[in-house]
Amino acid sequence: MKVTDLELTNFRNYKYLSVKFDDGINYIVGDNAKGKTNLVEAIYTLSFGKSFRTNDTLELINKDSKYSIIKAKTKSETSSKDIDIYLLLKGKKIRVNQKPVERLSQLNEILNVLCFTPKDVNLLKEAPSLRRRFLNQNISKNSQTYLSSLMDYETVLRQRNDALKLEKINFDLLQILTDYLIRLSKPIYEYRQKFVKRINEILKDVYKEISLTDEILKIKYKPFLDSEDHYEEELKELYASTLQEDVKKKVTTIGIHKEDFEIYLGDRNLGIYGSQGENRLAVIALKIAPYFLAKSDKEKPIIVLDDVLSELDTNHEKNLLEYLKTFNQVFITNTKKSDYYQGKYYICDNNVIVKED
Ligand SMILES: Nc1ncnc2c1ncn2[C@@H]1O[C@H](COP(=O)(O)OP(=O)(O)OP(=O)(O)O)[C@@H](O)[C@H]1O
Ligand SMILES: [Mg+2]
Repeated sequence: MKVTDLELTNFRNYKYLSVKFDDGINYIVGDNAKGKTNLVEAIYTLSFGKSFRTNDTLELINKDSKYSIIKAKTKSETSSKDIDIYLLLKGKKIRVNQKPVERLSQLNEILNVLCFTPKDVNLLKEAPSLRRRFLNQNISKNSQTYLSSLMDYETVLRQRNDALKLEKINFDLLQILTDYLIRLSKPIYEYRQKFVKRINEILKDVYKEISLTDEILKIKYKPFLDSEDHYEEELKELYASTLQEDVKKKVTTIGIHKEDFEIYLGDRNLGIYGSQGENRLAVIALKIAPYFLAKSDKEKPIIVLDDVLSELDTNHEKNLLEYLKTFNQVFITNTKKSDYYQGKYYICDNNVIVKED
């Protein structure tokens, strides 16, 4: 997968931009506040239909405009597709080859973007919801079944929470919704288990490549109920034992919507003991690892690394750039050129991006 052409109209600081990208590394360099993150944000939006910085579409529209357009030409093993995203004051319209998309996950199938931004550095130390999002996003990309189970789970969870908020609780309805939640939990738990096992095999190698150590990095999945053989029965008992508390708090207090994972380097939990640099490298590895889940070389995702180099020491910078050369298409931003990058630079300077000759 790759983006060959990008055209931005009224997107953030770009009034109009048209740029062609290459295979391999696209190194975008520019001073602070020139539009580097805005550019990679547009690429991310092509993949997810939304930004990594905001849920408010209005922020993406240039402040002097009333709409914004992101257009891209993409290529994969089997096809070339045009993606057009219209960001309007009231919502957005997304088209693929001039046809409206039916579901947002269609975008991801055309352009799968794995993105690291500076705020991800704290992924291991922050709230579980961010780590859960990592799991959910990456498993959903590879399984429509997981995505629909998760969406159904969220709907039933909302209904159960609403039922718990009623003045007079209908316990029969509550039981039906609980049973439904239990049935939906099992496949989600199994998918998460399988994914973590698979990603750990990859993660170990990716971390070795980028960290220049032999230490083993792995995810430790923390299911709220760990049971191989009697999952549904045990879950039933668990929900029965927390019913009083759920009623008192008027919310579903346990469930797969609360699950989390930890990251270990050797026997150290990085969320607790990791240095800033270790955390950074671990999260980069975590973000890159799903690249190797793609079935064929040409279907491999695009990697976006925003501001990743500035905080790395010389050896790690050199090593990471060397490693990234082996990937299909990478976007990397920095305020400085690198002594270790021999390719051409895209110079980002207020509204324009020029490829250096
Ligand atoms: N909706 C908008 N309309 C106009 N300008 C915007 C809008 N949103 C953001 N900007 C401006 O775009 C400029 C570039 O922002 P961006 O985050 O891309 O900078 P950057 O090159 O990544 O800088 P840094 O090196 O500091 O990370 C900023 O000055 C910002 O104020
Ligand atoms: Mg930036």
